[in-house]
Amino acid sequence: MGGLVVAMDGPSGSGKSSVSRGVARALGLRYLDTGAMYRAMTWWMLQQGLDLADPAALAARCGEPAITSGTDPDAPTIHVDGSDVAGPIRSTEVTAAVSAVAAVPEVRARLVAMQREIIGAGDIVVEGRDIGTVVAPDATAKIYLTASAEARAQRRSAELAGTTVEAQQAAMARRDTLDSTRKTDPLSMADGAVELDTTSLTLDEVIDAVLGVVKERGL
Ligand code: DC
Repeated sequence: MGGLVVAMDGPSGSGKSSVSRGVARALGLRYLDTGAMYRAMTWWMLQQGLDLADPAALAARCGEPAITSGTDPDAPTIHVDGSDVAGPIRSTEVTAAVSAVAAVPEVRARLVAMQREIIGAGDIVVEGRDIGTVVAPDATAKIYLTASAEARAQRRSAELAGTTVEAQQAAMARRDTLDSTRKTDPLSMADGAVELDTTSLTLDEVIDAVLGVVKERGL
């Protein structure tokens, strides 16, 4: 019997990162942000001057960068070829480009293999879009977080300087559509996942709800 794996999926702004880190902290588990890995790959491809509209070019080069993820929920890290890219991967350029990179099957195959290696024997909370469906279908507990489009845009614009809620909502809607309609491993709710609508819940309430599901499923 392997260790505990909590799969946390959902659209952007649904609260996945804060909730995942809180749950990992409460249970003494590791934490993996798979979105940061897709962002790191995208950052590297932009640095290389690759044409993001050319999936064959991205597929040909996606094996090159060394991407490493630290899994401490109090201080998650992400490096590309030894450089700390935690800041740059949150830029608007990377955010606008990441869905195109994440749609390339060869990119997903490489990152999913890396994610499974990190998950290893478990004891980890993993957040993303395809964790319960593809990366860890045997996860102990699968959570699908949602929130209204307004609430998600409000949360994101509170995190980012120089953006309006309206602009944020439009950008997120565009990204969600791309992430949900791509051919390879689109965002979707896994069989056996518990859906939690976080629109009118506080962070602590959501964390408690997830801890309740984990307890039920086998802690
Ligand atoms: O969670 P995030 O916003 O940092 O994710 C960045 C992008 O990466 C998002 O647009 C979808 C993609 N992604 C993915 O396709 N699969 C994952 N497991 C995680 C993220």
